Amino acid sequence: MKEFKIAVLPGDGIGPEIVKQAVKVMDAVSEKFGVKLKYEYALIGGAAIDETGIPFPEETKEIILSSDAVLLGAVGGPKWDNLPFEIRPERALLGMRKLLNAFANLRPAKLYDELIDASTLKPEVVKGVDIMVVRELTSGVYFGIPRGIFVDGDEKVGINTLRYYEHEVERIAKVAFEVARKRNKKVTSVDKANVLEATVLWREVVERVHKDYEDVELEHMYVDNAAMQIIRYPKQFDVIVTTNIFGDILSDACAMLTGSLGMLPSASIGGKIGLYEPIHGSAPDIAGQNIANPIATINSVGMMFTYSFDMPEVEKAIDTAVKNVLAKGYRTRDIYSEGTKLVSTEEMGDLIAEEIKKM
Ligand code: NAD
Ligand code: IPM
Ligand code: MN
Repeated sequence: MKEFKIAVLPGDGIGPEIVKQAVKVMDAVSEKFGVKLKYEYALIGGAAIDETGIPFPEETKEIILSSDAVLLGAVGGPKWDNLPFEIRPERALLGMRKLLNAFANLRPAKLYDELIDASTLKPEVVKGVDIMVVRELTSGVYFGIPRGIFVDGDEKVGINTLRYYEHEVERIAKVAFEVARKRNKKVTSVDKANVLEATVLWREVVERVHKDYEDVELEHMYVDNAAMQIIRYPKQFDVIVTTNIFGDILSDACAMLTGSLGMLPSASIGGKIGLYEPIHGSAPDIAGQNIANPIATINSVGMMFTYSFDMPEVEKAIDTAVKNVLAKGYRTRDIYSEGTKLVSTEEMGDLIAEEIKKM
């Protein structure tokens, strides 16, 4: 029997609520597909600060590094917003991505037909949307140095540095072209090469890597235009490859094409151990109310089985289960529309897990 060790990091806000539903789904998968899943729970973010004083304790690092894959809920919240920068919950997430060398963040924005009325955009604009955002995750302005807040004369100055090495662009571009080859063979590289030198180099390297992928169409787009095009005519996109910060922003926008931020899963790969998490945050405004949408986290489990465990049939099964539950009209509040049935976070988790067991 196949056996996998999964580090489970619920984190903060809605994190524990949605991760609990994903675990239900993993239990159902374990039963249905005859795989043994061992969960190792660990503290991260605000939850870790409250227990240990720091957001990314050594014990958590050890658990992660001895696992086959990591499932994360979300970190952060107003309770920890005023802490010194270095021990904010978000530092743990960035540290974990770096520790795992998870440089490629895949964020698929695919609309389930059943949710066509959940989007704030017109049905004809979003019907059939299927975009893969490939976000560079361990470099760029998030990690570039110099960084910090310094005193300069009689005032302070805040500095961050947008920085990309050729090898960093090269490896993310390769991932994007490989992904595109298995999809609709089109890559849109999003940059700001009209203003930022780091992305002049980005564009140059993407062009170079493209020479090995001439069966894939490549286009370049400035990020401001891309933000507009995603809302104007999203179906023009297949794979979007972009920098860390642009990918962060554009993927939240892409999420709304699918009805809700609560729908978008992600896989962060590149190292030995993959990291899987919804793209949204800890949603403090709805935490503890049992109303958050767990589907992004549940579908992140699907991605884990494809990318870390080489069992794409599990991702398919989870996807079908989600689709079936949506087809029966069940909706959490964020994707609710008239005539559908409102369910809680817990109920949505139960429904999807049941659906898998029935297959
Ligand atoms: P957010 O993604 O937490 O929430 C934005 C909006 O979307 C909120 O109105 C929220 O209620 C809604 N939302 C998000 N996920 C949802 C879900 N599953 N179901 C229904 N509605 C959902 O972003 P924010 O409010 O800007 O940030 C809150 C905190 O989360 C901050 O501390 C931020 O740093 C952190 N954050 C963490 C991650 C992460 O851990 N990966 C990602 C983004 C933000
Ligand atoms: C995300 C989040 C994180 C990011 C924050 C919380 C560090 O917004 O995962 O999209 O900016 O990468
Ligand atoms: Mn984000």
